[in-house]
Amino acid sequence: MTPKATPYGPALSATATRTLSKDFIWGVATSAYQIEGAAAADGRGPSIWDTFSHTAGKTRNGDHGDTACNHYQLWPQDLNLVAGLGVDAYRFSASWSRVQASGYGAWNAKGLDFYDRLVDGLLDRGIQPHLTLYHWDLPQALQDLGGWANRDTAFRFATYAEKMGRILGDRVAGIATHNEPWCTAVLGNQTGQFAPGFKDETLAVQVSHHLLLSHGLALQAMRAAGVKAPLGIVLNQSSATPASTSPQDLALAQTQYASFVRWYMDPIFLGDYPRVPGLSIYPQVQAGDMAIIGSPLDFLGVNYYMRLWASASIPPVPPPMELGASDMGWEIYPDGLRQLLTNLHRDYCLPPIYITENGMAEADRLQDGQVHDPRRIDYVRRHLEALAQARAAGVDIRGYFYWSLLDNYEWDSGYDKRFGLVHVDYSNQQRTLKRSAHWYRSVIEDAHALASAPTYEEI
Ligand code: FCB
Repeated sequence: MTPKATPYGPALSATATRTLSKDFIWGVATSAYQIEGAAAADGRGPSIWDTFSHTAGKTRNGDHGDTACNHYQLWPQDLNLVAGLGVDAYRFSASWSRVQASGYGAWNAKGLDFYDRLVDGLLDRGIQPHLTLYHWDLPQALQDLGGWANRDTAFRFATYAEKMGRILGDRVAGIATHNEPWCTAVLGNQTGQFAPGFKDETLAVQVSHHLLLSHGLALQAMRAAGVKAPLGIVLNQSSATPASTSPQDLALAQTQYASFVRWYMDPIFLGDYPRVPGLSIYPQVQAGDMAIIGSPLDFLGVNYYMRLWASASIPPVPPPMELGASDMGWEIYPDGLRQLLTNLHRDYCLPPIYITENGMAEADRLQDGQVHDPRRIDYVRRHLEALAQARAAGVDIRGYFYWSLLDNYEWDSGYDKRFGLVHVDYSNQQRTLKRSAHWYRSVIEDAHALASAPTYEEI
């Protein structure tokens, strides 16, 4: 079968569609703080993102997630949108301070009910729920005790994971402990761009270790509780390209790759932090920590947006940007996804992989009830072609989640950056499918048709 040309833009190639058909799930992703709103409803406690976004000068236009997409109220209609896309799966995160206001102590039944109903709502619509436990919104009460710099937080996270696992673990299709611990550690504690907003590299390194420790403790706690769902972690990753073949650029590329990718992959899969020139700060590690961090995974989530570009020159040589950049200023480099995945496959003994995020911000405008976003369609198509190449080369990739279902609160960039397949008018919470949403649905329809078609052997 040849995929039909879509009225929304060029179709995904027949080869890629076939490669991404059998044993492959299609999804969309969101996270709690970016869409839920209802920041003070039904006993939710404040998180570090409530505090940070309400601190003057920290976010664009002072934007915060108090209302966001009001998904807390509008979730049934949002799940109808998800179902209307024809996807197999939906990735979302739980807000820890919604289910346990302080991050320790009493559980909040109303908060737990929300996720309980959300999961049932997904199952009712035939959509696999993929839960992420931590997408950056630490309860503020835990930050007041030192946050992720305090080793105790790792143990509290494991208690929270066990609770969520006991309640939802027999109904969700996967549970990821953390989303992008690099961002929590580095953007939150070294550059100060994200909550809690510290600028201390040594602190950031210790935080990264406690995040990994909490991941391992959470896996162990959920497994001990008999949680049935596959368990994993979501890491943001990139290939690294040296700007030239000079030894300086090559060395810089290795350092960048080690601090961004290997810093998380090596402890989980090889049992130690990477030792390469250029990395000089290491965390305090207690006996037994690395074994906990290395607890086996059922899946690995990979978020890919752009490559790392390594130029040691002063001033640095900029990347060529042949396909331009997104509205975030992030270079569009689809082949980096293929490179990254084949490198990971070469370097580690991997569990099945899901692309848990990939997507593009555009300055989308609603005109005559429509949103034309051809660059997003081109972005997704090219990344899916790269993904298919990696799968064809033997990397065990089981699914792709577009980031994001909805335009939403893009952290320090506020509501200015639009990643959604669905446009949100924040003045009235009106949702409008962009052309990319229609295009994505047609890709999925083609892949589903091939997945259920008999193979040559069967004929
Ligand atoms: C990722 C985050 C996600 C969103 C996208 C654009 O790093 O996980 O919440 O902000 O970037």
